[in-house]
Amino acid sequence: MKLLIMGRPGAGKGTQAVNIKEYFNIPHISTGDMFRAAIKNQTKLGMLAKSYMDQGALVPDEVTIGIVEERLLEADCKDGFLLDGFPRTIAQAEALDKFLNENGIKLDAVLDVNVPVEILVRRMVGRRVCKGCGATYHVEFNAPKVEGVCDNCNTQLIQRADDTEATAVNRLQVYDNQTAPLLEFYSKQNILKTVNGDQSLSKVFEDIKVVLGA
Ligand code: AP5
Ligand code: MG
Ligand code: ZN
Repeated sequence: MKLLIMGRPGAGKGTQAVNIKEYFNIPHISTGDMFRAAIKNQTKLGMLAKSYMDQGALVPDEVTIGIVEERLLEADCKDGFLLDGFPRTIAQAEALDKFLNENGIKLDAVLDVNVPVEILVRRMVGRRVCKGCGATYHVEFNAPKVEGVCDNCNTQLIQRADDTEATAVNRLQVYDNQTAPLLEFYSKQNILKTVNGDQSLSKVFEDIKVVLGA
């Protein structure tokens, strides 16, 4: 399975990616996670990415396209992959198309997890992530068994730096301006599959399996 997962910030891309990755046994490639790892390691890329991410703006295309192409050439992507958070500009989508064509790769589907914009700020502000294993929780909608502690690995949960209300609002705006046009781009290629992301976590995954015919 060669898949993209799209959706507004907070729609549940990362949450569903965990299920999809396991079900299809494919690597989950999240540009947001790659940038956050670079920030944690204090690399040059990380410092650059942070200056954009903290404002809810996009990291420049030249940088982002390069790291994704490099990642897709790794051996574990040979039989499939799930791209999460990339592409998110027309320039990225065109670069990806070119790269896939040149490498004889065809996407099976582009998933769009659709959630009404009104509920997304609450999803982002209430999100908590595990410092250890990266698992995602929500203080109201998907709370860990013990407050502030990861169910999987007992590590402390933290809040993402860009999950403040002001930055979340900005990210939603950036999505509308720069990323929403991609839905039309993939719809024209007849590979866009929309699922309703405003349902329980398990129901969203059931619907994803249905649209993928799995
Ligand atoms: P990125 O990390 O991709 O963030 P995003 O697109 O804003 O999306 P999120 O990760 O916030 O949301 P999600 O859809 O994964 O939701 P989740 O599953 O966690 O990007 C961050 C930044 O990096 C960007 O702003 C940009 O600066 C930079 N960047 C990344 N890629 C880039 C690119 N290609 N080009 C340029 N810059 C780039 O769920 C959210 C919350 O809701 C959680 O708490 C979860 O528990 C809860 N939840 C999930 N599903 C449900 C449900 N069904 N019901 C109730 N609650 C739910
Ligand atoms: Mg995510
Ligand atoms: Zn953990």
